[in-house]
Amino acid sequence: MQTTKNIVLIGFMGTGKTTVGTLLSERTGMPLVDMDSLIEARAGKAISAIFAEDGEPRFREYERELTIELAQLEGQIISTGGGIVVNPNNVTDFSKKGFVVCLLASAEEILKRVKHDESRPLLAGDKQQKIVELLEQRRPLYEAIEHSVHTDGKEPKQVADEIFSAYKQCTS
Ligand code: S3P
Repeated sequence: MQTTKNIVLIGFMGTGKTTVGTLLSERTGMPLVDMDSLIEARAGKAISAIFAEDGEPRFREYERELTIELAQLEGQIISTGGGIVVNPNNVTDFSKKGFVVCLLASAEEILKRVKHDESRPLLAGDKQQKIVELLEQRRPLYEAIEHSVHTDGKEPKQVADEIFSAYKQCTS
């Protein structure tokens, strides 16, 4: 039986996963699942409140549980949270039925994109320093993902086009 692979978008905060996911969803007709939004809806509170009240480890459990659930679906565009790579089992599970692609961006570009956004608990305080440190720490995890697209200086539409072409090649 023919199956439609999920497209799973991975990448650091501010790499454009949700924006690109929306474009890919419009283009393919496949529904978009935004993991952070779903976690917030199920927990009944914002990500920042989950971090503040329950702690990051609890948030990672929510992420892990949702990954196990979503990785079994087909034909979805899945926009993950930037820290999905922290547990390598998440990437392994998504890879079983999905085309997993990492959106890459430089620290400068990420800072430009998240400068005025206060919703991300891991970037509270000195944003530039936090981005540089966390990006450095996670770099090997993002680089280990088979497919990747550089996003610096590109419009989301171009990034979505590149991902769609790679997805088609991989699934044809
Ligand atoms: C996180 C990224 C966020 C969100 C949470 C933790 C991370 O998602 O899941 O704040 O650890 O990188 P976005 O990448 O959508 O900002």
